Amino acid sequence: MEVERVQAIASLSSNLGTIPAEFIRSEHEQPGKTTFHGPIPELPVIDLANPDQDQVTRKIVEASSEWGIFQLVNHGIPEEVVKEFQRVGKHFFELPQEEKEKIAKKPGMKEGYGTKLHREPEGKKTWVDFLYHNIWPRHILNYNIWPQSPPEYRKANDEYCKYLVPLVDRLFEYLSTGIGLEKNVLKEASGGDNMKMLLKINYYPPCPQPDLALGVAAHTDMSTFTLLVPNDVPGLQVLKDDHWVDAKYIPNAIIVNIGDQFEILSNGKYKSVWHRSTVNKDQTRMSWPVFCEPPEDHVIGPLPQLVSDENPAKFKTKMFKDYEYCKLNRIPQ
Ligand code: OGA
Ligand code: NI
Repeated sequence: MEVERVQAIASLSSNLGTIPAEFIRSEHEQPGKTTFHGPIPELPVIDLANPDQDQVTRKIVEASSEWGIFQLVNHGIPEEVVKEFQRVGKHFFELPQEEKEKIAKKPGMKEGYGTKLHREPEGKKTWVDFLYHNIWPRHILNYNIWPQSPPEYRKANDEYCKYLVPLVDRLFEYLSTGIGLEKNVLKEASGGDNMKMLLKINYYPPCPQPDLALGVAAHTDMSTFTLLVPNDVPGLQVLKDDHWVDAKYIPNAIIVNIGDQFEILSNGKYKSVWHRSTVNKDQTRMSWPVFCEPPEDHVIGPLPQLVSDENPAKFKTKMFKDYEYCKLNRIPQ
């Protein structure tokens, strides 16, 4: 079956100046109607190079509890490494369509190039194509579904991981010690060295009616936490105090958001943030989230250290794959 990619729909739509009806969100979702423009604080920004590391820990805990998201600056990943990682990903989406289809996602598979096929409950579609593949740990990688072009694709991803993996470890430590746990607790509870990192590249083509469409509809991530680098076209929005607020584009920052598994492990102390993404009239937006996930049969539940008679478990304990199955099929957890 031939799948219609948003990239192709976008080129047709740009001539017409309108988008197909299935991309027009209902009014309560349309960014033109629901984006908040009043006074609201910016997403927290955390400087990892701050010599007062206790303060860094406190700020990370505060941001993760109040917002569930923050922007990291001076995170230690060199700018040229991120730029190259972004260049090769962008190159893939600019290849001829038949090249991209060679690594198309097969039904039931997590990895590959794709477009959301199922409509959402309200029957609407999102303005995005994507590519998913694991990037860590090395022994689970399936290079058959990695882009073969450009030839530097693999090296650029390896290089990014070389810096990202230690940064992830460091974040696990701040998030553990900040709530009174030994520094290795959250990492171990997330699968230790078997924890997986899944890359998604989002490609949001220009959209002639950006006020009516969404790139990614409102959701929380299933991950423990997610580290995202965007291109310079803003679009990420976060739900804060019931308002959809724009994340400011900060050059060279990495956006870190808490996902469902950390909300569960922390028994609700850390918030899995609701977020969505908007699209741009003239420019292609791209983003590169990396989802840190437990291995599929790893069991996740509120940590016993954080549960007491006064603070009983707020979430069920279950295998990550069962959590994922319920979430993807919209079955209550
Ligand atoms: C996602 C996501 C946001 C963005 O793909 O899970 O939240 O800014 N993307 O592209
Ligand atoms: Ni997300």
